[in-house]
Amino acid sequence: MPEDDCSISQNLIEEKLTNLNNYYLQRGLSHEDLFNVAFPETASKPKKSLKTHIIIYTAIATLLISILYNCNAFSFVYGIRCIIPNNYFIWEATRPISDCSFCSTLTEAIELSNVTREEFEPYAYSSKPIIVRGAFLHWPAMKKFSWKFFKELYASVEGSYKSVDQECQFLHFKSDFISIRDVFAMSEARVQNLANEKSWYVGWGNCHPVILQEMRKFYPKPHFLPADAEFPHKDYIFMGFDDGATMHLDYINRLMWQAQLQGSKIWKLVPPPECQKICKPVEFQIGPGDAVLLDTRVWYHATAIPNNQFSLSVQSEYG
Ligand SMILES: [Fe+2]
Repeated sequence: MPEDDCSISQNLIEEKLTNLNNYYLQRGLSHEDLFNVAFPETASKPKKSLKTHIIIYTAIATLLISILYNCNAFSFVYGIRCIIPNNYFIWEATRPISDCSFCSTLTEAIELSNVTREEFEPYAYSSKPIIVRGAFLHWPAMKKFSWKFFKELYASVEGSYKSVDQECQFLHFKSDFISIRDVFAMSEARVQNLANEKSWYVGWGNCHPVILQEMRKFYPKPHFLPADAEFPHKDYIFMGFDDGATMHLDYINRLMWQAQLQGSKIWKLVPPPECQKICKPVEFQIGPGDAVLLDTRVWYHATAIPNNQFSLSVQSEYG
């Protein structure tokens, strides 16, 4: 086609399209409407509402959190699981609200000594923090238990390491240990927390029947606990230096008792949020042979080991 003829055709097409464009604009259509008709594949799609975005992002976040929890990813982030195997958020959200009667008149822990079962009975299920001074000084475990004792015990029982990994629970706190094997593989220098060695503090549940049987040869059930109380088939050992557990609640079925076998330990207790206007925080220190009895389901609690001491304690539940 000659160039002049082409120019004429282009002008004619432009004129007709302009007239057509004006025709539809006069009848109420917008430029965007005409563009969408001319180029449907690039037409703007309806925008999602803010509500739709929130629903989508919430669903993705929920899915992500569930996956992370199933992989136990948060346990390492917290550095503390205590008696909390998984799903901290759900437990916290569904925790029964306390009526604060257990702490409203309390200013410090209740201290007892030489207590009998009958004398202990009024306090047993009061949820008040109780110290029984020197309660376990006669236990053979006071002298027998050590890092070396447990290392040799675990090495002698088939399936013991696996039981901690899969059933009993290992608590690394702020240490770099991943499992009980790592704890028993550390050097003697680190065990003793010598200069330039990295400090450590760990805890673990002992639920392997043979391990539990061997441990319990060196301590009985606390003599002052109720005769009809139920006890779990798992006892915890906590040992190490410096920082213990950070502030947390335990999601367990019973009340906790802990025997301080070596060194001292500082306990810091805070009432649950609904009681913080009525109740006061409580702090105390215990030493070798002392017992602590605490409802760790209602008292937020943290522990620390003073003055680079080595602390070793055994813990279980009753109820
Ligand atoms: Fe705890």
